Amino acid sequence: MKKKIAVLPGDGIGPEIVQGAIEVLRVIEENFQHEFEYEFGNIGGNAVDIDGSPLPDKTINLCKNSDAILLGAVGGPKWETLPVPLRPEQGLLKIRKELNLFANLRPTTYYESLAGSSPLRQEIIEGVDLFVVRELTGGIYFGKPSERTTINGQSGAVDTLVYSKEEITRVLEKAFEIAQTRSKKITSVDKANVLESSRLWRECANEIAKKYPDVSLEHMLVDNAAMQLIRNPKQFDVIVTENMFGDILSDEASVLTGSLGMLPSASISESGPYLYEPIHGSAPDIAGQNIANPLATILSAAMLLRVSFQLEEEAAIIEKAVNAVLDNGFRTRDIISPNTKIVSTTEMVEEVKKEI
Ligand code: NAI
Ligand code: MG
Repeated sequence: MKKKIAVLPGDGIGPEIVQGAIEVLRVIEENFQHEFEYEFGNIGGNAVDIDGSPLPDKTINLCKNSDAILLGAVGGPKWETLPVPLRPEQGLLKIRKELNLFANLRPTTYYESLAGSSPLRQEIIEGVDLFVVRELTGGIYFGKPSERTTINGQSGAVDTLVYSKEEITRVLEKAFEIAQTRSKKITSVDKANVLESSRLWRECANEIAKKYPDVSLEHMLVDNAAMQLIRNPKQFDVIVTENMFGDILSDEASVLTGSLGMLPSASISESGPYLYEPIHGSAPDIAGQNIANPLATILSAAMLLRVSFQLEEEAAIIEKAVNAVLDNGFRTRDIISPNTKIVSTTEMVEEVKKEI
């Protein structure tokens, strides 16, 4: 199979972890006679430095002309004081919007060998297998106005939470489709006791549920969901929610598996190309030290093969290799536990390659 992958390493640990994922993909290419072409583009802070914009047009064009996109992470203290349009995160928001990536899919699976590195008791997390579907191109991260303003003569600020029925419906439909392929249980998370957009969300969910009689729908308020995720995570299968709630809940869910550094994601649209990235950020505190966990990005590459290229066997082999490396006791610092061996980013990548 011949495919073109746009690679956007971004900032901080981004280049280190993306490099690892590409090396893993190369091993897959060799073993399965595929030919992937990797073309690099700038996004985030490095794009501001080099091109004067967090998302240059040439990066947008590169993405639109590729079969899939692999992204590291963006941002860092260096760019935090820039005016809003030049902030690295704007590059990320804009690429999601440009490619209409309306649903972010975040599987959270339990790794038996990592049980020791979760702060939660093993009996709580054992067997957790949940799938967060986060709306990605609407809600409060995109609503206008979003600005400094004057309120009753005092300085203040405003952000706006807006959702159209169409935006809500398409992500809910996607979540129901996914629930059908899993345990047929879906939890729609909202704040319908307070927010009008959430009441619309709930109405839409009830409406769509009629089309999927085999899927059981439950509604849960987001504050309760945050508590239930820690108290009894095994009650969940598919969780679908709006942009900001999904952002927060999926970081919370990462604790169940041991580390942010373990969780991949796929962002999908109606037509493609899709974008794959770890759920964590650019981790400036550990950037450049060769200690970041590359597994979330490697697992994102596996999702890329599965979802964009329909290469199920290849994806499963990467996932198995990651499991085996963990079972063999290799750990980056974020997932360290007693009786395991600390390895660097590059050593972890080598171990995964060997297993494949
Ligand atoms: P973060 O996810 O970068 O880091 C949170 C903590 O987790 C840090 O202690 C970090 O060292 C650790 N961590 C994250 N990924 C890791 C990995 N692969 N291996 C080992 N440890 C890992 O979030 P933070 O610190 O809040 O934000 C840092 C920067 O990243 C900010 O500029 C933020 O805006 C940006 N960010 C970017 C995202 C993206 O590109 N998708 C998402 C979240 C934050
Ligand atoms: Mg986040």
